[in-house]
Amino acid sequence: MSGGVRRGVHADGVTVRVPAKVNVQLAVGAARPDGFHDLANVFLAVSLYDEVTVTPADELTVTCSGPDADQVPLDRTNLAARAAQTLAARHGLSDAVHIHIAKKIPVAGGMAGGSADGAGALLACDLLWGLNSPVQDLLEICAELGSDVPFSLLGGAALGTGRGELLTPVGAGTFHWVFAVADGGLSTPAVFREFDRLAEGRDVPAPEASPALLAALAAGDPDALAAALANDLQPAALSLRPGLAATLAAGTEAGALAGLVSGSGPTTAFLVRDEEAAAKVAAALEASGTCRTTRTATSPAPGATRLTGPHPG
Ligand code: C5P
Repeated sequence: MSGGVRRGVHADGVTVRVPAKVNVQLAVGAARPDGFHDLANVFLAVSLYDEVTVTPADELTVTCSGPDADQVPLDRTNLAARAAQTLAARHGLSDAVHIHIAKKIPVAGGMAGGSADGAGALLACDLLWGLNSPVQDLLEICAELGSDVPFSLLGGAALGTGRGELLTPVGAGTFHWVFAVADGGLSTPAVFREFDRLAEGRDVPAPEASPALLAALAAGDPDALAAALANDLQPAALSLRPGLAATLAAGTEAGALAGLVSGSGPTTAFLVRDEEAAAKVAAALEASGTCRTTRTATSPAPGATRLTGPHPG
């Protein structure tokens, strides 16, 4: 997290940029009594961003722009609105802000777009209200908002344990990615339920981070990372959306080093060698008719970052 924290209320508003994520390893344990699953979750932030702007207002309101804006809830259940409410309540402040989300991260796509907006609104309100909260306090609120929200604030590369909210930063070289965005989203709870259904009668081992994957990540070695990519939610996502198998095949046939479902899906992520390969694989995926659209990105990307100026273009 970065961004020139200054005290004082910024009447013109504050804009924060927040990255999407891909899970290069998502090891899922058995369901816990609280309904969550213990994870060994290797998060990587990618250079695909939402921008969250908060400005003082008469009441808490949310607007959204971007190609998928119509799929974003604009009420107080939006994670960005919940972030503002939670921070305001902690400090005995009014939550009367207008939150605008300029959305580029696919909605309900397994790339933590909603979590990004929660982390972005939290940092933006903290700056707007001049609170200058320690990052540990913000991370605690993020964990209350959702399992992936702390990572959206932190960015970079990290191992998430517990339900994914307990983060340990890990080393990561540069990697190139293509994302194939599917038609419609997948509900994360539904994918975890399908994971449980598929696991019925089997022993689910405790999730553990792969040393080979962490070494490949730190070394910036795309061939080794390609060989180690693993997502335990992938069979569940494929069971709910069988068409994703054709997308995965189209990406690897087009020259991707490897492909996997991103988080709970339905976005699929393809690791490629360089920028040139990214353009080629993206074009082939678009031509294949197996996805709605594609995005290219690099990793790691910084976490929630204040952009300079009240309304950066
Ligand atoms: O934490 P978050 O609100 O993002 O989680 C959404 C849902 O995903 C949870 O209600 C739960 O069904 C599922 N989940 C899970 N185990 C995790 C994280 C999420 O079962 N570690």
